[in-house]
Amino acid sequence: MVDIDWDWLQERAVEAMRHAYAPYSKFRVGVAALVDDGRTVTGCNVENAAYGVALCAECGLVSQLHLTGGGTLVAVSCVDAEGSSLMPCGRCRQLLWENGGPECLLMTASGPRPMTEILPDAFDAGDIAHIVRK
Ligand code: THU
Repeated sequence: MVDIDWDWLQERAVEAMRHAYAPYSKFRVGVAALVDDGRTVTGCNVENAAYGVALCAECGLVSQLHLTGGGTLVAVSCVDAEGSSLMPCGRCRQLLWENGGPECLLMTASGPRPMTEILPDAFDAGDIAHIVRK
């Protein structure tokens, strides 16, 4: 298990949050993650006049993950405008599960917690394999 510098990761998330485009909700979000090869990827939320089209910060993060070489997320820090740990929305928990798996750690108000606690009984590729392969 790699040693995770959570303070450093949180600072990267705060830096990303400063780039958020959130003129409608005024709720800026930043996220940073350590990848299994040592890279760091980040994201910020990007809203739209058509409110429902808003992209959560985690959407940008997973896009950057794939753009820069793929891999698996190992540790994630998601923050609000005050730099406090923020719990990802349900859809984004699913994104983190897909790209980080059950062992990926998320920093929370009560410390780092594995994705198995953040998204219990998660739906994933294993649930569709027996149908999709037919
Ligand atoms: N938001 C995120 O970026 N990530 C989350 O996990 C929760 C919500 C954003 C979406 C929207 O721009 C703003 O926060 C208010 O909901």
